[in-house]
Amino acid sequence: MQTKWAGKNLHYYECIESTNTTLAGLAMQGACHGTLVVADRQTAGRGRRGRSWESPAGKNVYFSLLLRPAFTPDKASMLTLVMACAVTRGIEQVLGENAGMAADFLELSKPQIKWPNDILLNQKKICGILTELHISPGNADEYSVIVGVGINVKAQEFPEDIAGKAGSIEELTGVSLSRKRLTQSIMSAFETCYELFEADGDLSLLMDEYNGRLINKDSQVKVLDPKGEFTGVARGINAAGELLVELPDGSVTAVYAGEVSVRGTCGYV
Ligand code: BTN
Repeated sequence: MQTKWAGKNLHYYECIESTNTTLAGLAMQGACHGTLVVADRQTAGRGRRGRSWESPAGKNVYFSLLLRPAFTPDKASMLTLVMACAVTRGIEQVLGENAGMAADFLELSKPQIKWPNDILLNQKKICGILTELHISPGNADEYSVIVGVGINVKAQEFPEDIAGKAGSIEELTGVSLSRKRLTQSIMSAFETCYELFEADGDLSLLMDEYNGRLINKDSQVKVLDPKGEFTGVARGINAAGELLVELPDGSVTAVYAGEVSVRGTCGYV
């Protein structure tokens, strides 16, 4: 790692249930800020909303990073968006290093973000981020955050239910990447992005970058809120990481990630 702290304390496993779960155990034993768990394969990889995350061996990146923030836990959900910026920076950097003749083509296929936590290339999901908060029993001020990242790198078969929307970096760009280099590059990018986040305790310094990559920006979206679905035009995130959606009457509502997800009006994006 070419970092000060992110990923310096690194635990690699060939096969575990889930990097998030293993890291939660290490956190309970006192692992330090920046501890990284990487696996080649997961047998019970977890996604958001109780979904599973396909984690075959030899193909993808699965890692979880432990953070012990100095700020209050209510800000922790924004770390998903900080990681999304770091992942897109890392992918872009490593694609650039390996593109060769495909460099012009890559200009057309920049990584984009589907709020809050999906990374896409050419409209296909190549990465998901799962952020989990662990509060110490008996001391709400003592907490840690685990940010888990899964990136589809090499060509592979996806399960039927996600086959239409998922893809891998190599398949979509024709560029072969080293998974190790990709992880290294994302760690360096995360360290920089985290410092920008810490400076103001919000996303003020990352907001323009995030919005520049937002796939749904200025398009019609359907907001799947358990309290009731609605449609509007996504205008970008605010400094708190909420998605600003303009409603048909011209008013703007801020949508908090928690229970809500967003779709394009005709499908996934
Ligand atoms: C999603 O899009 O639903 C989030 C997927 C997160 C998957 C990663 S893979 C590494 C880490 N360990 C897990 O069990 N999940 C995350």
